[in-house]
Amino acid sequence: MTTSPRRLVFASNNPHKLSEIRRMAGDKFHILSLEDIGCHDDIPETSPTIEGNSLIKARWIKEKYGYDCFADDTGLIVDALDGAPGVKSARYAGPDCNPEANMALLLRNMQGIADRRARFRTVVTLIMGEDIEQFTGEVEGEIATERDGCSGFGYDPIFIAAETGMTFAAMDADAKNAISHRGRAIRKLFERLASL
Ligand code: IMP
Repeated sequence: MTTSPRRLVFASNNPHKLSEIRRMAGDKFHILSLEDIGCHDDIPETSPTIEGNSLIKARWIKEKYGYDCFADDTGLIVDALDGAPGVKSARYAGPDCNPEANMALLLRNMQGIADRRARFRTVVTLIMGEDIEQFTGEVEGEIATERDGCSGFGYDPIFIAAETGMTFAAMDADAKNAISHRGRAIRKLFERLASL
């Protein structure tokens, strides 16, 4: 007998993230996007922390739409910039969430700085029924001095992963998923789901 995949909403419409996560979900879970459930809300990310914003997004979907779901929130944390852009990573250069402008500003702010250590941090919040759990993933690296590669999204062209010495944008999707912040957090999520 075959069992049908479990449906779970991922609180995102980002096509890159959706395809990363659907690759990892395999055929055990059917991942629905916000678009799939007719959610076009501009969910307010008002928390000063990555954990807080991840929780806000998941709660929004559960409370307004009634679905079991998970949401992620990510920040790029640069040591020499006291943790910036951090929780403001999407809007570092202004409210438009423009990745090119964000990268240009970060490269400018890092000019002349020798300590380029940085990490991506993702917090995933899972809400199943009444239960809320969070899963964290991090990847260490450094900020490049110039862009390299054309895969991925966001800051990928200027984030050099310590484990490969390559920017995320120069790695293929599976190689990035294997070591990335989100890959690590999402694998913890799927391990937990498999144990339920
Ligand atoms: P979000 O909370 O996942 O939307 O991430 C906030 C911002 O961090 C995004 O707008 C991207 O600029 C950046 N970001 C998140 N994940 C990645 C990634 O895997 N690679 C590069 N940039 C990312």
